[in-house]
Amino acid sequence: MQENYMICNCKQVSYGDIEDALHEQKKFDDVMDAFKGVQEVTHCSTGCGGCYNKVLDTISEIMMSK
Ligand code: FES
Repeated sequence: MQENYMICNCKQVSYGDIEDALHEQKKFDDVMDAFKGVQEVTHCSTGCGGCYNKVLDTISEIMMSK
């Protein structure tokens, strides 16, 4: 996936932004935890909410590739 691929159009959060936000976290127990952390940093999925599944998919993809 492209670094600058836009995941959340409302808040202009790209794949790279989510990746960075994820790496800032020391640990997370599950995808929902990670999601909350990423959301605090990037504010992704706080607009229309249409990207919710895309954000979750992206997070699990990044977590699994670690
Ligand atoms: S596209 Fe992410 S909140 Fe609308």
